Amino acid sequence: MKILLLGKNGQVGWELQRSLSVLGELVALDRHSPDLCGDLANLQGLAQTVQTVRPDVIVNAAAHTAVDKAESEPELARTLNALAPGVLAQEAAKLGALLVHYSTDYVFDGSGARPWTETDTPAPLNVYGRTKLEGERLIAATCPRHLIFRTSWVYGARGGNFAKTMLRLAQERERLTVIADQIGAPTGADLLADVTAHAIRGVWQQPQQAGLYHLAAGSETSWHEYAKYVLAQSQIAQPTIKVIATAVDPVPTSAFPTPARRPHNSRLDTAKLQTVFGLSLPHWQSGVARMLEEVLRGSA
Ligand SMILES: NC(=O)c1ccc[n+]([C@@H]2O[C@H](COP(=O)([O-])OP(=O)(O)OC[C@H]3O[C@@H](n4cnc5c(N)ncnc54)[C@H](OP(=O)(O)O)[C@@H]3O)[C@@H](O)[C@H]2O)c1
Repeated sequence: MKILLLGKNGQVGWELQRSLSVLGELVALDRHSPDLCGDLANLQGLAQTVQTVRPDVIVNAAAHTAVDKAESEPELARTLNALAPGVLAQEAAKLGALLVHYSTDYVFDGSGARPWTETDTPAPLNVYGRTKLEGERLIAATCPRHLIFRTSWVYGARGGNFAKTMLRLAQERERLTVIADQIGAPTGADLLADVTAHAIRGVWQQPQQAGLYHLAAGSETSWHEYAKYVLAQSQIAQPTIKVIATAVDPVPTSAFPTPARRPHNSRLDTAKLQTVFGLSLPHWQSGVARMLEEVLRGSA
């Protein structure tokens, strides 16, 4: 199996380099790759890359993920999140290749408290969500052999993430204030990558498994509870860490105005994925605890 990976240095892309390597030959690119174009803003170059590599599977982990910035650069966000996946879908369809792509809970408006299923009607609140939804639709209309995984609250051990920010702030400030009225599931990039590899094998053997899936870690939390868990867990992982924050105060979303509106309800129902692929998704705490161990031991 020959796999073309785009966005190899993002949170998910980095973990995919590991998890996809056992499936076959991996051609992994980022936007600055010298020999083949991996820049999603260069639609012609992207098509040319697929035509040159002739992969059996394309995995697109690249995207415009700066949710607030997307509000002020909607055309670039649309090119990266919708038009580029559309080009990949066209080229994949010509080759009969499988296209794997990631989308987001931000395609929903965040109303209610029920976990969203794949058949619920999307209604994005912001540019990022709208462009990601358009990307999904272009893929579904063009390339029947696709896997689209909608996920939420992604973190990786590499680079910045919410947990690391909370840890840093807790060492600098006596009180933290964290949003308590957005609910979702922190999902590890490593989990996404491992499930992706498993699902690619599944679709390889049973093509009817292709389609749209919700993929997030198990259970749910708020950013506020997530922050409290991170601080408590960090004391277990690294007792010498000097946390001076004595309180983590819950606040509503309105306390932190941002250019992009965010959904309150980011719960994703993952029953379809677990049933079709015979998987069991671990609770979010296990992945976060593991990531903290990695980060804190690395910095010890
Ligand atoms: N992060 C989340 O909380 C979250 C939640 C739901 C869904 N998702 C989806 O999950 C997927 C992976 O996200 P992630 O968390 O791994 O994001 P990430 O860490 O921000 O990685 C995105 C990657 O895309 C690359 N990229 C940006 N512009 C590009 C361009 N013009 N050409 C090629 N590559 C470009 C970035 O490269 P540079 O570093 O060079 O900019 C980065 O490596 C995305 O589809 C995202 O929409 C993410």
